[in-house]
Amino acid sequence: MKVELLILPEGKKVIGNQGLTVLEIAKKNRVFISSKCNGKASCSSCKIKVINGNFSPVNELERRRLSENQIKDGYRLACQLNVVGGGSIEIPEDPFKAVVRAKLAAQAANKEDLL
Ligand code: FES
Repeated sequence: MKVELLILPEGKKVIGNQGLTVLEIAKKNRVFISSKCNGKASCSSCKIKVINGNFSPVNELERRRLSENQIKDGYRLACQLNVVGGGSIEIPEDPFKAVVRAKLAAQAANKEDLL
């Protein structure tokens, strides 16, 4: 059975087989999710946030890698998260990219003030 996954913030809708992980479906649809340990649940780089939908319950490997608060807030490991009935997930912005983006926005605002 095919399931649909909405990947934010891009807003890209992708299709995958039920039971595959979010990471597997993303890769097959050429959506990048960092996966430094290649799906072995040892790096946490594939951390994503579930917005809504039907997914597998939090497993023991995720409980070792994520805090209780992160789990309460919907964070999961994409390599451990099986898609049961589709849904929406959000890929958090890389913290380094967020800093660079904020600095570029501040620079752009300063240039506009000078004009
Ligand atoms: S890819 Fe490393 S924890 Fe998921």
